[in-house]
Amino acid sequence: MKRKVNSNIVWHKGNVTYDDRCKNLNQEGLVVWFTGLSGSGKSTIAVEVEKELIRRGKVVYRLDGDNIRYGLNCDLGFSEKDRGENIRRISEVAALFKDAGLIILVSSISPFKRMREFAKEKVGKDEFLEIYVKCSIETCAKRDPKGLYKKVKKGELDNFTGISSPYEEPEIPDLIIDTNNLSIEESVFKVLELITHE
Ligand code: ADX
Repeated sequence: MKRKVNSNIVWHKGNVTYDDRCKNLNQEGLVVWFTGLSGSGKSTIAVEVEKELIRRGKVVYRLDGDNIRYGLNCDLGFSEKDRGENIRRISEVAALFKDAGLIILVSSISPFKRMREFAKEKVGKDEFLEIYVKCSIETCAKRDPKGLYKKVKKGELDNFTGISSPYEEPEIPDLIIDTNNLSIEESVFKVLELITHE
């Protein structure tokens, strides 16, 4: 996933540091990365967490997998290679926003372990929280908020995560949210608790 930088390109250093930016915003940069199956609740939780953090005066921005695919990543599909490039770009953007001092909430299936490891490395492990939004594929298929599981069943959609494309569960995430059993409010509370204690 790593890209080689052209040897004729030289980094141009600024006069404002990361600490200066954080001081201005009265907060520290952080990337909260929600991973999980389609329909597990990643975006729903991130939307509510964002709302509450904004209410508390934080500077927050959401990077949603689906939404990013409307613009920056509209040229990418769902092959393993394209998903890798999708995560690479989202990681780069999240790292830039974090460097600006923002709290970034990423919700993206990000099904492969090595892709999530890339994101963590890119952002910096001390400013990265991995949250596994865990939910059985049966429950996700029952919820089917976008009608995609129905399409898969009819044979209209392939390479679908959890069915015809793998999802590698995180081994030691910072938090697991079991949305089979937790309400949205309970899930949001857990995330806020984690963020606040960071
Ligand atoms: S990722 O695997 O590359 O991280 P991403 O989070 O950006 O995926 O996009 C996933 C969203 O795209 C899903 O929530 C769903 O709405 C839509 N989607 C369309 N086709 C697929 C597919 N084959 N597999 C998974 N999600 C898909």
